[in-house]
Order: sequence, then structure tokens, then C-alpha cells
Amino acid sequence: DVKSDVQAPTPIPDNMFAETVTEVEHYTDHLFRFRITRPASFRFRSGEFVMIGLPEAVTGAKSVFRAYSIASPSWDETIEFFSIKVPGGPLTEHLQNIVPGDTILMRKKSTGTLVLDALLPGQRLWMISTGTGFAPFASLIRDPEAYEKFDTLFATHTCRYNDELRYSQDTVAATLDDPLVGELAANRLHLITSTTRDDHPLTGRITTLLQDGSLYRHLDITALDPEHDRVMICGSMAMLKDVRKLVEAAGFVEGANNKPGSFVVERAFVG
Ligand code: A2P
Repeated sequence: DVKSDVQAPTPIPDNMFAETVTEVEHYTDHLFRFRITRPASFRFRSGEFVMIGLPEAVTGAKSVFRAYSIASPSWDETIEFFSIKVPGGPLTEHLQNIVPGDTILMRKKSTGTLVLDALLPGQRLWMISTGTGFAPFASLIRDPEAYEKFDTLFATHTCRYNDELRYSQDTVAATLDDPLVGELAANRLHLITSTTRDDHPLTGRITTLLQDGSLYRHLDITALDPEHDRVMICGSMAMLKDVRKLVEAAGFVEGANNKPGSFVVERAFVG
């Protein structure tokens, strides 16, 4: 029956949802966030990623899909993503032009390693990010389960410039104000921002701040230790490599879904 067909620009493959953009916010020439409707049957764990793309009619070519961390928590009615805009990037050069009402294709299955299940119980949860690597942590800091499992959450976000920190700053402020998780997060969720090419209260790469101890002095806390701390890392390949080296040297052991450990890693995917 043609009348009951879904209104979509192209036939939607069985393994995908076609969802509608509900909100778009641009931060800089290189960064923006957007929200899409959530299919009733879509389930995911906070911290996971999913493949998204645009209909062929929009890109004028075969659809390109890229992995995006889901930035909203699993209880949310809509799904949020935080994206870079890559000049000439096959997906993001089109994605950056979306407006409310447009269609986004999303694979039905999400996956990922930055999930609470992959970590052993602990006291402090560290979520270390650079650039768009903050996205999975935007989901986790809004998940009540994170506060059931950990006493304190430290989310670090390092970018080159101040205006690139707005997403994490706005998200943490909204989290503290949120009727569902605000009370849980109060005095327990701490955002630590630093820049590497701009003035800021804290400057320097996260690796430097951890290695020279200035991060711990800034927060007046004890250094990372594998007995009490759990670490999640998300950033560029180079950043992952360096932070991994640092936590492994401190005695942390990588965890996975089927074998929880004291740290987990996932790269910030480039659109
Ligand atoms: P820097 O300005 O010193 O390169 P990018 O946009 O290149 O992914 O960088 C995002 C942030 O991550 C920047 O502040 C950058 O610092 C920092 N960064 C880049 N490479 C590393 C690394 N290997 N270890 C830690 N931080 C890094």
C-alpha cells in the first residue's frame, strides 16, 4: 500500500533508521552539535557510538557513514551528537549544513568500549578528552548509573582555543541544572578545561598536566592510582597513544566489555 509508505528521500535499508533533525547549534567554524528524533526501538548504553550518514539525495553520491559517539544519555527523548566540520570531508561538508526537519540515517546497532560495564568498581571516574572526544562523556555525565558506580567524576577537556570548550562547559552547566541528574552531580561532577593555544585558567596538554602534577595541584587532590581511580580516554590517535602510555605506566590495565579493567580507550572519530 503506497499510502502507508514512510516519507523518506530514498529507500531506507533494513539496518537503518531515518530520523529527523530537531536542533542544531554551531560553536565555531569547526564545531557544532545537533539533535535528532529517537526511534522508539533504539537502545544504547551511555558512552557508545553509532554510524550515521545522510541520504544519497543530499550528498549527491553514495551515502557515507561515520562513527559518532552518542552525546546524550540513554534516558533522553532525542539523540545528540557533537561534530567537527572537516573542509571537504565527505560527510561533514554536508552534515554541517543540516537544519531542523532534515533527515539523518542512523544504523540500528550501537557499540563501543567507553561504557561503565568495561570498568571495575572504583571511587573516582576520570573522563579524559580532547576536541570532539568530549562527546561520549557528555552522555556518561548525564547517566545516573555513573553516580551509582562512582563517588566523584572528573571530566577533562583540552582544546586549542577557548571557544572550542563551549560544548563541554554548556553541557556540564546543563547537567548540574537537570531535574533528573542535577542533584546527583552536585559537588561530585567536576569539569576541568584547559587550552593549548589560548589564555585560560589552566593551560597545557592533559599529558603535561598529569605528568608534572599541575592538574592535581590545581584540584588539590591525590594523583591517579589504579586502586581507586578508573579512566576513560577519548581524543585523537596521538592523544590516545600518549595518555594510554601514561596510565599504563601508572599501573592501569585496559578493560573491555567482557573483561572489565581500570581504563578504557576510544578514539574521537573524524567525520
Ligand atoms: P596542541 O595545541 O599542543 O597540539 P587536535 O585538534 O589537534 O586534536 O588537538 C586538540 C587538543 O589536543 C589540543 O589542545 C592539542 O594540543 C591536544 N593534543 C594534541 N596531540 C596531543 C597528544 N599527543 N597528547 C595530548 N594532547 C594532545
